[in-house]
Amino acid sequence: MFISHDDSDHHGNLHEVMDACPNATLVANWFLCERLKAERLDVAPTRWRWIGDGDTLDVGDRTLHAIRPPLYDSPTTRGLFDPTTGVYWASDCYATPVLAGAPTVADIDPEFWIEGFTMFQTWNSPWVSMLDHDAFAESARTIEQLGVTTIAGAHTPTIPSTHLDQAFTMLRAMPTTPAPPMPDQAALDQMLATLQ
Ligand SMILES: [Fe+2]
Ligand SMILES: [Fe+2]
Repeated sequence: MFISHDDSDHHGNLHEVMDACPNATLVANWFLCERLKAERLDVAPTRWRWIGDGDTLDVGDRTLHAIRPPLYDSPTTRGLFDPTTGVYWASDCYATPVLAGAPTVADIDPEFWIEGFTMFQTWNSPWVSMLDHDAFAESARTIEQLGVTTIAGAHTPTIPSTHLDQAFTMLRAMPTTPAPPMPDQAALDQMLATLQ
């Protein structure tokens, strides 16, 4: 069982799954286990397996590569690349909100994708605005050079091969792309007024 990072939306069913699958191994890293332990981690250390950024994991019929995505909201984050399919699991990166379920980003309005993508990256990794544009582009190339055919993630419809170039280009621009304003107290007041 691979955990990308220690946010509850990414490990909420950890104990239930590990209990239901007594032979499963928890694939994580030292820092992830350390941070989960601070909350609660009732999985015996004998069932842990630690993989660092760049490490590989033999899962029987293929070897998966743990590769940290360019943007993330926890220092424990690892993405997972499967060279046999070209699928890269990007955790929180390359994400976008959607108004309704959509199989791929090709199924959502192109302008909405651009706006949502910008919003998600700049809000989830606000430190991106402090990065040097070229240095960040260089780090983003780690993923671009893998031979990815498809990006999957926790908060996005699948990004198919037809949309990878745009996703990569948009991501590279994030250090110099202004973050949209977040909902403020006036927005909360309006929500509450509507509810009441
Ligand atoms: Fe997260
Ligand atoms: Fe997340």
